[in-house]
Amino acid sequence: MQARNDRDEPAIDWSLPITPPRWMPRRAYITAVSQLYHGEVATFTMCHNLRGLLSDAATQQFLDTQIADEARHIDLYRRYLERLGKIGPAEPTLEAALDGRFVWPGSPLGTIVAVHVLLEGEGLRVQREFGHWFPCRLLRSINANISPDEARHIAFGRRTLTAKLETLTQDERVEIYRWLEALWRECAVAASNDLPGLIRLSMGRRWINERWDRHRRVLVQTGLVSEDEVRLAA
Ligand SMILES: [Fe+2]
Ligand SMILES: [Fe+2]
Repeated sequence: MQARNDRDEPAIDWSLPITPPRWMPRRAYITAVSQLYHGEVATFTMCHNLRGLLSDAATQQFLDTQIADEARHIDLYRRYLERLGKIGPAEPTLEAALDGRFVWPGSPLGTIVAVHVLLEGEGLRVQREFGHWFPCRLLRSINANISPDEARHIAFGRRTLTAKLETLTQDERVEIYRWLEALWRECAVAASNDLPGLIRLSMGRRWINERWDRHRRVLVQTGLVSEDEVRLAA
């Protein structure tokens, strides 16, 4: 049956079979896809945390919409994983988001950077890479249904940050950058240790440095820090 929503996103055909890749053990496939589910739960939890930190009505209103979007995404991945048999454990970056380590103790803008730039940016990347590695048409159609929402959330984060980051002191912006890099690297190393052999082999130190370089470029574009301030943070 086709499930079409009223925002004209691509429909999901739940009659499609689940087709894990032949080269991957089923358990590893469940663990990998479970990260999409846990990513949604982490973002949902972080948005709840963030909403309590903000006083601006327009931002709160956007977050209410986003919280509803994330709840819908959680349901879609849960439904897929239930058909696969179970939900696997969360990887370290998502555990850190769930237990509050991605909440910046200073300005709420630090937490917006963590959620809307880092976590959501990472989520979209994982969705795209899974689309490339995994042939399952049902999973691809779920990802295609979700990704316009995610692009909207990321755009909101960038707009808000571009307008407001200049209100922070240089010290706080550099500290936010330093905190995010250290936390992200710690989680990336722990995540690569947990992955099955083939994928882990492609995730060495160089892979982690390249990944962080992409985040760094986005953080500079967003206005968190300049390239000179990145050097200052090192
Ligand atoms: Fe989402
Ligand atoms: Fe999102």
